[in-house]
Amino acid sequence: MLNQIGKLEQEVRAAIKAADDLGQLEEIRGSYLGKKGAVTTLLRGIGRIPVESRPQVGQQANALRDLIEQLLAQRAECLKQLTTGERWERERIDVTLPGRPVALGGRHPLTLILDEIKQIFIGLGFQVARGPDVESDYYNFEALNIPRDHPARDMQDSFYLSPQFLLRTHTSPVQIRVMERLAPGLPVRIIAPGKVYRRDDDATHCPMFHQVEGLAVDRGVTLADLKGTLSLFVREMFGSEMKVRLRPSFFPFTEPSAEVDISCVICGGGGCRTCGQSGWVEVLGAGMVHPRVLKISGYDPEDVTGFAFGMGVERLAMLKYGIDDMRHFFSNDFRFLRQFR
Ligand code: FA5
Ligand code: MG
Repeated sequence: MLNQIGKLEQEVRAAIKAADDLGQLEEIRGSYLGKKGAVTTLLRGIGRIPVESRPQVGQQANALRDLIEQLLAQRAECLKQLTTGERWERERIDVTLPGRPVALGGRHPLTLILDEIKQIFIGLGFQVARGPDVESDYYNFEALNIPRDHPARDMQDSFYLSPQFLLRTHTSPVQIRVMERLAPGLPVRIIAPGKVYRRDDDATHCPMFHQVEGLAVDRGVTLADLKGTLSLFVREMFGSEMKVRLRPSFFPFTEPSAEVDISCVICGGGGCRTCGQSGWVEVLGAGMVHPRVLKISGYDPEDVTGFAFGMGVERLAMLKYGIDDMRHFFSNDFRFLRQFR
C-alpha cells in the first residue's frame, strides 16, 4: 500500500510538472482527487487493509492529497505568470513607431498684449500693482472725485453686488490704493493691469474687458512727461510711423484731461467698422492727477504733481493684430485663437 502511494506521488509530480495550461491541471486534479480519482479511491479502500497499517496508510494518503493540492496551486500560479509573459511578448511596444503628437496650448492674444505692455513700462521704470475686481463705491468713484450724483457715473454703468460694492468699472481705483500706501513722501511709478466691467456690449465694447492703469506722482511731473511716455509707448507697440492724437476731454479725477487716439490700422485711416468710420481709434484716457485726488490719498498737491492714464487692452490688441470684432477674444473659437501661437 505504501509503495503504491509512493508511486502515485512520483506519477502526479511528473504530470503536474508537464502540464502547460490550466485545463490540464484541472484534468489532473480530477484523476487524482476527483470522485473516482486515484487518491480518493485509495482512501475509500482503507477499510479493507489490516487494522494495524490503517493509521500509517491514512496519514500518508492524506499527506499525498495535500501535496497534490499544493503542487497544483503552485503550477497554476506559474502558468498564469507565463501567460502574462507571453502576452507581453506578443504586444511588445514598437519603439520605432512615431509618437502621438502632443497638443500644445498657446497664450491668449490678450495675454500676449498684456505681457508686451508690461515689458514696455517696466523698461521705463514702472512697477506692476494690482487691485480687487470687486471694488467699493469709495475707491471706484468717491475717491476719484465722482460723487454720487455726478453725471460721469452714467458713462460707467456697472454691475452692483450691493449698494456699496460693485465690479470695478475701470482700473483707476488702484491709483488711490497705491497712493494711500506710499503717501505722503514716496514717488509713485506704477501700472495696474486687470479686468474691468461695464454695461456695454457691441463690436467695440465688451461687458468685461481689460485696462492698464498708469500713474506717476513725484515733484515736477508735467503734462510733457505724460505725452512723452505715451508717445514712446505707442511707438514701441505699433512702430514709429504710428500717429497719435490727444483730444481735450473730461475725467473728474484728472485736470486737464485727454482722450488719446491712434490711427486705425484696420482701414489705414479711411474709415471702417472698428473706428466707427472716423479713421481714429480711442485707446486710452489720460490727464494730470486732480489735486483733490492727490489730497484724498494723502499727498500734498502743493508739493507733488502726477499724471495718470487708463488704456483699453482689447482695443490695442485689435489694432495690433487687425481684429475687427472685440467679441472674438471671448468666444473661445479655436480657429481664432490658433492664429496667435
Ligand atoms: C476710463 O476708464 C478712465 N479710468 C481712464 C483714465 C485713467 C483717464 C486715468 C484718466 C486718468 P474710459 O471710460 O474712456 O476711461 O476707458 C478707457 C479705455 O478703455 C477706452 O479708451 C477704451 O479703449 C477702453 N474701453 C472703454 N469701454 C470699453 C468696453 N466696453 N470694452 C472694451 N474697451 C473699452
Ligand atoms: Mg473714453
